[in-house]
Parts: sequence; C-alpha cells; structure tokens
Amino acid sequence: MKVITSDNLTETVLDSFSRCTDPRTKEIIISLVRHLHDFAREVALTHEEWRHGIEFLTATGKRCDGIRQEFILLSDTLGLSSVLDAINQRHEGESTQSSLLGPFYRDGVKEVEFGADIARTEGEPAVFHGRVLDGDGKPVPGALIEVWQTAANGMYEGQDPDQPEGNLRGRFKSNAAGEYAFRSLKPTSYPIPTDGPVGRMLVATGRHPMRPAHVHFRIQAQGYETITTALFSSGDPYVGSDAVFGVKSSLVVDYVPQEGKEPYFDVERDFVLLAKEQT
Ligand code: BEZ
Ligand code: FE
Repeated sequence: MKVITSDNLTETVLDSFSRCTDPRTKEIIISLVRHLHDFAREVALTHEEWRHGIEFLTATGKRCDGIRQEFILLSDTLGLSSVLDAINQRHEGESTQSSLLGPFYRDGVKEVEFGADIARTEGEPAVFHGRVLDGDGKPVPGALIEVWQTAANGMYEGQDPDQPEGNLRGRFKSNAAGEYAFRSLKPTSYPIPTDGPVGRMLVATGRHPMRPAHVHFRIQAQGYETITTALFSSGDPYVGSDAVFGVKSSLVVDYVPQEGKEPYFDVERDFVLLAKEQT
C-alpha cells in the first residue's frame, strides 16, 4: 500500500485522475488541483480560514437564481472573466477589442430605425455614430448592433421598476454604407450589485464597486466573429479602476460637446469585425 506523506500528497491526488478518459477534463482538473494545493501551501491556509472560504462560496451560491448570478460577479471582480476574454477573443490588427457582456444584456429588444432615440428618461443627450467595417476597412452593411446602458440614476432598465420597458436599449442594423447612428444619453458611472457576498468581499478588501460610465455594444454579422464590447467615457473618475477590469484604452471615447439650441454630446466610433476563420 502506498503511504501518503506531505511530500507525495499532491502527486497522489493527481494520479487519482489517471483513469479520466476525457483528455480536456483531465487537463483542467489536474491543473486546478495542482494550483489549489500550491495556493494553500503558499499562504499556509488554516482550517479556520478555509471554513470562512467555504462559507463565502456557500453564500455566493445562495445568491444565484434565474436573475442574479453572484458567481459571475465573483468571476468578474476577481478579473477571471477578463482573463477568459483575453484568451478567447481573437484580436488582430485594427479589430475592435472585446469587453465584458455583464449581467444586464437582454435579447428580444425591438429593432429601431437608423438614428432612433433609445432614451425614455431624462439625462444629457448624446449621439453615437460610426461605421461597422471589416479588417480591410470595407463597410459591413446589415450588421446587427445591440446597445444597452444605465439611466442617469446608474440603473439598468431591468433593475429599476420606474424605467419604461426597453429604456436605453437599442437594436438596429448598419446601413448600406456600414453606418450606424442612434441617440441616447451620456452614461454615468455606477456600482455593481453590492448587497451580496461579493459586495462584502469588496468592502473587506478595501475596493470600490464602481464601473466607469460605459455603453455596451454587441455586433453580429454573417461571416464575422460576433463582438461583445463597450465604450467607456474618457475623463470618468473610475476609468483606471473598473471594479470588473473591463476597460481597454482602445475602448475609451470622448464625448464632444455640441453647442446649439439643444446641446448634446457627439461620440464617433467605428467597429472593426474579424472575418470568421474557415474551418
Ligand atoms: C455591467 O457592465 O453591466 C456589469 C459587468 C460585470 C458585472 C456587473 C455589471
Ligand atoms: Fe454595464
């Protein structure tokens, strides 16, 4: 019988997966166990600390249901979601970089016309426009563009019963020249949900819960990789310390004030899609 010692414990546990027939499952679980053991050894984790850890994970699971997903929030605030984005999103040349989808995306939003106003609540008016292009700079007509953002009070329509259905959500297609345009509001920074274990983790570790002001975009077109991204407001106080690590400098845009009888901010931004790789 093999005697387990502290020196051979990790290798013994890793060997226990030797009969796993799915190579990818095996690769993942072996690496996970190796890192978990290294982590516990590195910080000399006590039983009391791991009990706290288990209580935290249990509380996180209890805050998950069809609407709220605290584990995704945990993944976001630990930067893991952005690591996965970086690993899995192709980014070549001028192609638009990705950013987190977040929990507030909704499909089934009514399609609107080029130039439509998607705001049903008050705020600082803003016009967003630009083109959807391919990697050679050619227009991509008929691309489906979905956008969503918070209202001036920092809440998404689904979080706030006082907002009209579909407020600040848009779904439209680029025109024959690949152009898009819509009217909306200049977004504000807002806190991620803090009334659960992730919020307590942020407080306990001296972190703030704020996301810099942003508008989410999801762009799909036949033959191209779908891009999930966001445009962040330059000058926002949280642009350098996003609670979920989604900001990339290429996604920071200026809101250029336009004077006149009805002043508004102008945001111009092109999106560059990558052609799907032939398999
Ligand atoms: C968001 O931007 O909507 C978001 C992303 C990650 C966590 C919470 C909110
Ligand atoms: Fe958001």
